[in-house]
Amino acid sequence: MAQPTRPYYSSKGVSAVYYDLLTAADKKLLGDLEVYAGLANGPSQILELGAGTGRIAVDLAQRGHSVLGLDIAPAMLDQAEAKRKALDPKTAARLRFKLGDMASLALGETFDLVLCTYFTLAHVPAGAAWKNTFKGVAKHLRPGGLAAFHLPVEERMRESPPPSDKPVFMHPLDGGGAVALYILEHSFNPKLGRMDLVMDFVTRPASGAVAVHSHERLTYYLADPVPFADAAGLEVAMAPIDVGGVGAIHVFRKP
Ligand SMILES: C[S@@+](CC[C@H](N)C(=O)[O-])C[C@H]1O[C@@H](n2cnc3c(N)ncnc32)[C@H](O)[C@@H]1O
Repeated sequence: MAQPTRPYYSSKGVSAVYYDLLTAADKKLLGDLEVYAGLANGPSQILELGAGTGRIAVDLAQRGHSVLGLDIAPAMLDQAEAKRKALDPKTAARLRFKLGDMASLALGETFDLVLCTYFTLAHVPAGAAWKNTFKGVAKHLRPGGLAAFHLPVEERMRESPPPSDKPVFMHPLDGGGAVALYILEHSFNPKLGRMDLVMDFVTRPASGAVAVHSHERLTYYLADPVPFADAAGLEVAMAPIDVGGVGAIHVFRKP
């Protein structure tokens, strides 16, 4: 039977399972945590959109901030919640995770800093979903508060990936075996600013058993965030901050 292609982060796939292994090796993210920590002005109330497995939210809570991490994928949030439970009680009490859609924010509280980390905004089309996300962010920010959006750089997204038979990532697994990641398909539509990737996660058991494949689709939408921020009443706070040469963190302020 042909492999089904599942959406990335689906509970039936493995991208969520291997997410932390992948990001730990991902040079595209070098320094992002320090940028976010540097945007907080003293102990802060922080909202993270697309908090995923808690890579950033947990770190910020450990630095003394109160963090609410929102995400749409239960498979990612389950891991975040497991990490929260393993923290010391004081840190755990400063950290919350919540299932939700960043494009329809109604949290009933405001924040000093809103973060939309590692290309999260690019996961939704750059039309109504971006407009509603920025509107929601503006509504949930305190006056003077900052909002940071990490987005891909278009020129880098257009680049051809390695051939589909060359793994872009390999890692040994506990107890033997290994996981490898291949990019099966890559396309970029410049008119729509849309990039589609189909990945193949190949899990090879330690024994001679057959490798298990999981085909998963990841789509990124690219656009200039400034008009969306402007329409939501947010102003540019500083020049975009380069991250790994492939992405930039755009920072806005609520007047
Ligand atoms: C690349 S991961 C980032 C995870 C984490 N912030 C990090 O930096 O490691 C993107 C996350 O955005 C989440 N996401 C995608 N669309 C979303 C939406 N509309 N609302 C909330 N989260 C969303 C995905 O489920 C995924 O966990």
